[in-house]
Amino acid sequence: MSTDPVPTMSIWKPIHLGSDETSQEVNVSLAERNMLIGGEPGGGKSVALQLIVAHGALSMDCKLILIDGKRVELGLWADCAERFVGPSIDDAIDVMHGLQQIIDERTDILLQMKKRKVTPELGWPVYLVPIDEVAYFSATVGTSVQQKEFNASNRDVVARGRAPGIIAVEATQRPSADIIPTSLRDLFGYRWAFRCSTEASSDTILGHGWANMGYSATEIDPQARGVSWLRAEDGIPRRVKAAYLTDDQIIHMAAWAAQSRADQASGPNVIWLRRDGDAA
Ligand SMILES: Nc1ncnc2c1ncn2[C@@H]1O[C@H](COP(=O)(O)OP(=O)(O)OP(=O)(O)O)[C@@H](O)[C@H]1O
Ligand SMILES: [Mg+2]
Repeated sequence: MSTDPVPTMSIWKPIHLGSDETSQEVNVSLAERNMLIGGEPGGGKSVALQLIVAHGALSMDCKLILIDGKRVELGLWADCAERFVGPSIDDAIDVMHGLQQIIDERTDILLQMKKRKVTPELGWPVYLVPIDEVAYFSATVGTSVQQKEFNASNRDVVARGRAPGIIAVEATQRPSADIIPTSLRDLFGYRWAFRCSTEASSDTILGHGWANMGYSATEIDPQARGVSWLRAEDGIPRRVKAAYLTDDQIIHMAAWAAQSRADQASGPNVIWLRRDGDAA
């Protein structure tokens, strides 16, 4: 990825994620998709998530809702985000409820317009919702009532969010049923598996049966950070070395993106200030 942000970037365009074994660029469109990222500690999940956040931040047709229990992984992008949630389950639940409300409002308007989903022509911003270490909220902090509420609203956002323009990208070390309920896990169309220690873990991320067919993230050399199996557009896992953004690159891009967003908010023809319904 170039360090010079390109003003024409769009969340509807493919996102550069890395390169494959033949050094071909791997670019994946996340529009109308959700993605689950998993793998053992240090495998490269947060680095991978940064690539998606960077694309979203530089795309002026995208609003970022960042959720990061550790705060430091996505914190550099906080100034570009509509909401940045750190280690607070109350805030995480609040943001999920807000997204559910947006889904309801947008769905109402789409119905009135006799449309079934958001398209670029509508001019409505897409909400990108990256969650790093989702286990922190789903199974670690808070009471069981709070975790249940987070899981229920998260499931709703992932289930209903695609058509009204909400993209969830969630990372966790091992998305087993105690961390991500199976009913939620199955809703993620795209899967990105970094190194795992067992075939069962690898299958939990990529989907049942892939390890038996030779696609197992246990084969990845523990030293090969960023090497992964990505199951996206054609449904077949593809070996990918994720791209890497240095802190300096992230700081540079985040500053550009925050400034561009501020300029856009104060300029004419403001997509941000336009209510969804006015865009028709
Ligand atoms: N694509 C990559 N290219 C080069 N180095 C990488 C890549 N991905 C990860 N690394 C290296 O591995 C380190 C750990 O990566 P990362 O923080 O993304 O792991 P993680 O899977 O999020 O771990 P955790 O579960 O502990 O959060 C990075 O700080 C970086 O040094
Ligand atoms: Mg991480």
